[in-house]
Amino acid sequence: MINIGIIGFGTVGTGTAKILIGNRDIISRRTGFDINLKRIADVDIKRDRGIKLPKGVLTTDAEKILNDPEIDIVVELIGGKRPAKDFILKAIRNKKHVVTANKALLATEGNEIFAEAKKNSVEIGFEASVAGGIPIIKVIREGLIANRIMAVYGIINGTSNYILTKMTDEGIEFSDALKEAQRLGYAEADPTFDIEGIDSAHKLAILASLAYNIPLSFNKIYKEGITRITSQDIEFAGELGYKIKLLAIAKATPPSPPLSRGGVWGGEVELRVHPTMVPKDYLISKVDGVFNAIYINGDAVGDTLYYGRGAGDMPTGSSIVSDIVDIARNIKKGATGRIPGIGSVKSAGLKIKNIQEIEAMYYFRFSAFDKPGVLSKVSGVLGKHNISIASVIQKGRKVGGAVPLIVLAHRAKERDVVKSVAEIDKLPVVADKTLYIRVEGREE
Ligand code: HSE
Repeated sequence: MINIGIIGFGTVGTGTAKILIGNRDIISRRTGFDINLKRIADVDIKRDRGIKLPKGVLTTDAEKILNDPEIDIVVELIGGKRPAKDFILKAIRNKKHVVTANKALLATEGNEIFAEAKKNSVEIGFEASVAGGIPIIKVIREGLIANRIMAVYGIINGTSNYILTKMTDEGIEFSDALKEAQRLGYAEADPTFDIEGIDSAHKLAILASLAYNIPLSFNKIYKEGITRITSQDIEFAGELGYKIKLLAIAKATPPSPPLSRGGVWGGEVELRVHPTMVPKDYLISKVDGVFNAIYINGDAVGDTLYYGRGAGDMPTGSSIVSDIVDIARNIKKGATGRIPGIGSVKSAGLKIKNIQEIEAMYYFRFSAFDKPGVLSKVSGVLGKHNISIASVIQKGRKVGGAVPLIVLAHRAKERDVVKSVAEIDKLPVVADKTLYIRVEGREE
């Protein structure tokens, strides 16, 4: 028998307990051994969570789990940085394996936690930290181990995807869509992490460290949220054949040549989270609402896509229990540490590229006074910085007032885009700060 202790009886803790109890038989039939939920600790053990637990399981004292010699695996589900980190480190030092969904903690302090786990010969399961119920950690660490990963593109924040979907489908503005997400309980009370790309960046740090054998690099990820996107941008993007999605992107650039062409792993990796225009006919453009999806291209496998629920009690519980079973199987075979954690394998030595150095296609929304000669002034600055225009949209007339001037540009360097925008925003014909959105996908 393998004994489990859960710290944190909130949404995911409740889902995990429901699965461990409700599916105990089927899991035992599949694994050949029993997994016993011995204890759950939470500050509130009175609230009804709609689950019947055997007597004595609930406690308000996390130490009863951390110091119990019979408990093999500690599941940390309180979230946040403290005391979560203290509990995790104590469990590790007491030679207990740990399972956690704590993406913010792992992304920012994971290098230390994984090093401590290695030192104490215990495992950290973190499948539930990225994309809820989608087993994406297993995909990268095991399913795609044969591949050089060329690119990862993820919709890995359900709240912002819900907001963008709502703005697209109903033509409403960001603030109204956010209110709706809060009303439905998708967004956090303080939704900054969701809408400013921080939550996506936490998850991207974890995915990229596995895909590219680099240390967790949250601070080096470029982060830009969705707060400046208007329903007009969504409409213009639609006219140009695109959807706007908040993407978490990791890609090797220059792309290391595929295996078939004698490629060697090298170069740099781009790590960025920002609103992105994606061709409407791409599968990832069709991922709507609170759903998550991750596209991965590997040099051997080619294109792959993983889709599912990125949050919620039962989907996230599904990933937690999957980690518990993996660790339990390893314990039974005396083979813990079989699959290395983050930072345990030799780094591939890829450098993280500065956002200024990236290249992409770009959508610009200039706010220009509707006067003769404006377009030539704007295009003149773009041309001077080697930015070539693919299409232009200008609609509506506001005599003397500002109107949006939309420009889609061919592939350009971010450094040149930044310089052009700084110059254009100073032109007397420009009324407001320019917005630009990076465009991914085939070059038109
Ligand atoms: N706030 C996250 C989201 C929850 O909206 O996707 C899951 O990590």
